[in-house]
Parts: sequence; structure tokens; C-alpha cells
Amino acid sequence: MQAENRNEANKKDLILAIETSCDETSAAVVEGGKNILSNVVSSQIDVHVRFGGVVPEIASRKHVETITLIMEEAVKKSGYRMQDLSAIAVTQGPGLVGALLVGIIAAKSLAMALQIPLIGTHHIAGHIYANELVDDIQYPCMALVVSGGHTELVHMESEGVFDIIGHTRDDAVGEAYDKVARALKLPYPGGPHIDRLAAEAQSAIALPRAWLEEGSYDFSFSGLKSAVLAAINTASMKAEPLDAGTVAKGFQLSIIDVLVTKAMRAVKQYGSKQLLLCGGVAANKGLRTALAESCAAANVPLLVPPLALCTDNAAMIGAAAQLKLARGQYTSLDMKAEPGLSLEEWSVMQG
Ligand code: KG4
Ligand code: ZN
Repeated sequence: MQAENRNEANKKDLILAIETSCDETSAAVVEGGKNILSNVVSSQIDVHVRFGGVVPEIASRKHVETITLIMEEAVKKSGYRMQDLSAIAVTQGPGLVGALLVGIIAAKSLAMALQIPLIGTHHIAGHIYANELVDDIQYPCMALVVSGGHTELVHMESEGVFDIIGHTRDDAVGEAYDKVARALKLPYPGGPHIDRLAAEAQSAIALPRAWLEEGSYDFSFSGLKSAVLAAINTASMKAEPLDAGTVAKGFQLSIIDVLVTKAMRAVKQYGSKQLLLCGGVAANKGLRTALAESCAAANVPLLVPPLALCTDNAAMIGAAAQLKLARGQYTSLDMKAEPGLSLEEWSVMQG
């Protein structure tokens, strides 16, 4: 739709959202927190792959090189002009501080030049609200956030209010996937490779599950990771062949068992109307299938964004920012990058 044709009476909020918290430079234009008009994502994975992980300094430099072009492309693809935008949203945290800063400086400059509100947005709120781009979220609901940096169960009593009922005490799920993949000599990021190998394998090695204390919704994956490394070392010392597929399958079965069991228990205890799966690891086919089966059995709808909205992207930031734009909760232009920003404090109750 061209701006000239737009009926002002029906004008919806138009947010230009920016995401640079890790290794994706992304900008999107989202209308009313629901409708994606553009979502441009430039991945740096090719640059980091030879280091086996994200190198923060290189990530920041790559963001600087591409951010302006990506923002321009996002606005152009939306069919609108910069002057039509209602607000600029940007990931304020959590993330790599140098990477966050690049997006924040770009966002501040645009907000200042266009004289429109700036909305500092929480990265995990973005992952959760990616679901709003495809479905209507109903409250109370439970979100299972699984990414490279986070593993959390979040109870949401109402829109934009977050209660973290469980989190990882050590490695995030995606991090465990990437470390195990590295031990199996698979390329970075390892999650998709393990997922594929696990699906193909006929058998699995036996690995532990960390349930933690009775009733706890917390997670721990470092013991599982150590058990995998020990199995690989033992096989190599005995010069016995160890099939990567059986290791991948054993690892994935352990992860899925714990995630699904805890998520379903939480859904039951909190009377959740929906279970929302989000974050990069939501791309995992084994996890999606297992959760879909459990949710069907419990008669609780499972919401999972399409793959492109599970991994880091700016449209999800626009969806979360709409919560604050709708309430007139803007962020001041002296906003700082917050690598450890709390999800609960970002709530719409806090202003
Ligand atoms: O959300 P995301 O794109 O970035 C962060 O905010 O962390 O998540 C990236 C993580 C990586 O650890 C990657 O290995 C994992 O998501 N991942 C997967 C799959 N696809 C991506 N993990 C398991 N199975 C997959 N299919
Ligand atoms: Zn993420």
C-alpha cells in the first residue's frame, strides 16, 4: 500500500523495529503489532562459523556496516516512507553490549530526526510476542523460551506482564546444543545438525535428565553436556567407534523429555489457555512434535511461530514494542544498552 492511498482514519501504528543483539542485523516495519510489512534479516553466521561461535567484536563491526542499508530496505519494502512511521523500536537487551549499541544509536538518531517516540524493547519479550504475529495470544498463557542464550518458562497473567517461574541454572538449551555439536565436530550453529541426526538415528545412548528439586521449574543442562563429553572421551580412549547419530538422539531425547514434562506441568498448574513456544530452538522438529502431542492430549493449543520468526528478527521486536506504544510508554533518548535487562521489569506495569 502506498502512503498516498492510506486512509488516515484507519491509520494503524507503524513501527520500524531494529534488532542487533547478537549476530543478526535486522529491521522490520510492523503495523499494529500484528501485520508484518517487511522483515529484513542479514545473518552474520558465515563470518562467525570459522570461529565456532559468535565473536562479539566482529558482530558489532558487521552491524555497523549493514544497519543503515537494512533499515532503508525495510522501510522501502513496507511501501511507506520514513515520515509515515509512528515510532522506532529497538532491542535494548539482553544481548552483546557492543552489538546492542549499534542498533540503539541508529534508533535514537532516527527517532530524533523524525521526532517520533523511541521504544527500548526486551529481546525475550520479542521472542514471546513473535506468536502475536501469527495468532491471537490468550491469557493466562505459558511461554517456553528456548534460545542460544535463554531457557525460561514464563507465566503471563495478562498482556505484557511476565512472571519467570523457571530458568536455566547453567547452560541455555541452544548453548548446550552448540557445545555438544562442537564435540561431535558438527558445524556452528549445531542445533539443526543434532536435530537432523537425531531424527535419522535408529538408536540412542542413555543419558541423564536433570529434574532438580521436587516441583522446581528450573532447568540445568551442563550435567547432560558433561555426560555427552564423557561418553565421547571414553569411546575415544577405548578406540571404540561412537556413532554421532546415537549420541545426538540420546541428547535430544533427554532435552525434550525435561522441557516437555516441565512445560506441561506448568500449563496445568497455572491454568494456561495456551502454550507458546519461542526462541531459536523452537525450530527443533523433535521438540515441536513432542510438544504438539502433549498439548493435543491435554487439550491446550500450542502456538509456534514459523521458523523465520523463531530465530532472531526485528518483526518480533515490533510486535513486543506495540504493547508499550499502545500505552504511551516511551523510552527516553538517553536510554542505554542493557545486556542484563530483566524481562519482569520490562513489563507494561512498570511503565
Ligand atoms: O533465538 P536465537 O536465534 O538466538 C538467540 O537469541 O540465542 O537462537 C539460536 C540458537 C542456537 O543455539 C542454535 O543452535 C539453536 O538456536 N537452534 C536449534 C535449532 N535451530 C536453531 N537448536 C536445536 N534444534 C534446531 N533445529
Ligand atoms: Zn534470540
